[in-house]
Amino acid sequence: MHIGVLTGGGDCPGLNAVIRAVTLALTGDGATVTGIERGFLGLLTGQVQPLTRDRVAGILAQGGTILGTHNRCDPFAYFGAGGADCSGQAMDCLRRLGIDALVTIGGDGTMVIAQRFADLGLPVVGVPKTIDNDLELTDRTFGFDSAVAVVSESLDRLQTTASSHGRVMILETMGRYAGWIALEGGMAGGADVILLPELPFDLQAVAARCRAREAREGWTLVCIAEGAHPRDGGLTVRETVPGSPDPLRLGGVGHVLQQQLQPLLDCEVRTTLLGHVQRGGTPTAYDRVLATRFGEMAAQLVKAGQFGRMVALQGDNCTSVPLVDVAGRTRRVPVDHPLLRTARSLGISLGQA
Ligand code: F6P
Repeated sequence: MHIGVLTGGGDCPGLNAVIRAVTLALTGDGATVTGIERGFLGLLTGQVQPLTRDRVAGILAQGGTILGTHNRCDPFAYFGAGGADCSGQAMDCLRRLGIDALVTIGGDGTMVIAQRFADLGLPVVGVPKTIDNDLELTDRTFGFDSAVAVVSESLDRLQTTASSHGRVMILETMGRYAGWIALEGGMAGGADVILLPELPFDLQAVAARCRAREAREGWTLVCIAEGAHPRDGGLTVRETVPGSPDPLRLGGVGHVLQQQLQPLLDCEVRTTLLGHVQRGGTPTAYDRVLATRFGEMAAQLVKAGQFGRMVALQGDNCTSVPLVDVAGRTRRVPVDHPLLRTARSLGISLGQA
C-alpha cells in the first residue's frame, strides 16, 4: 500500500511525533509512505517527500512539522469562499503519485476538507491536532498539553512581577472560540480570575475581584482567552483574513480589558499577549505519547481499511469516530464542566456578577 500523510492548519507541538509514528507503523509492515508538503497545497503543487525510517529518525521531540503546513489552502475553494474548486486536480495528483489512502493531521478546517475528499471516494483517516482542544468527540487533541504548560509557566513568571509591584497582570491566551487553554492554563498557573468565551464576563465583577485582592493580597493574576468577551460586547478581532476558512484573527482582548479596568482600580494593570509562543517548541511528554498513540492508531485504521474516520481519545482509550460527526463542529467548554466548579469552590472569579 502507498499512504500519503499531510499536516494542515496551524503548526502545533506533536505533529512530528504523529508523522514518525504513522511512518514507523506503516513502513514496518512494508507500506510506502509519502509526505505531502504544506498541507493540501502539496496536492496542487505536487510537492512531496518520501517518509522513511531514516527521515523520521530524531523528530519525535521537534516542534513544528517537517512537512510544512498551510492554514488557508482549501482545494475545494482555492483561495477562499467562492474560489475555484481544484479538488479534481488534487485527486489527479494522488492518482499520479499512486497514493491509495491519505492520513490528514489537523484541526477542524482540515477535518472538513478531509471529509469532502472522503465524499469524493478518497480513503481518508484524520488525526486530531490543535492547541485549542476544540475538536468534537475526542477528550484531548495533541498540542493542547504543551500550550497549557506554556500558559502555566508564563503565569508563574507574571506572578513574581504582580506581587513585587502590586499589579494586576493580565495574560491573554489563544484558543479561538473555546476556553480550554485559558481554563486549564489558568488553573495550573494559579490565576485569580479566568475569563472564557463560554462565560461572557461582567466588567464590574472583574473589577470588584481585583479591588478585593488589591486590599488583601495586593496583586491579581488574570488569565483571559482570546475569544472571551464582555456580556454586552462582541469578540475582539485583530484582523480579517479574506480567503481563510475562518477569516477572523482574534487577539487583543487582554489590552481592551486593561483599558477598561484601569480607571476602576488604584493599582497598575498590565497585559501580556502570549500568541504563538503557545504553539512553538518541543511537545510535552504527555503530547509526545498522545501523538504517538494517535499516529499508531491512524496506521491501524489504514491497515484495517477503516476509512472516513478520525482517531480520538475517549477516557484513556484510543479509538476512532466518523469524520462526518466531527467536521464543522466546535467543542467548547460546557458551562457545567467540573473544572469550573473546582474554580468556583476555590474562589477563582470567572467574571460573573
Ligand atoms: O487554532 C490554533 C490557533 O493558534 C488559535 O488558537 C489562534 O486563534 C489561531 O490558531 C491563530 O492562527 P494564525 O497563526 O493564523 O494567526
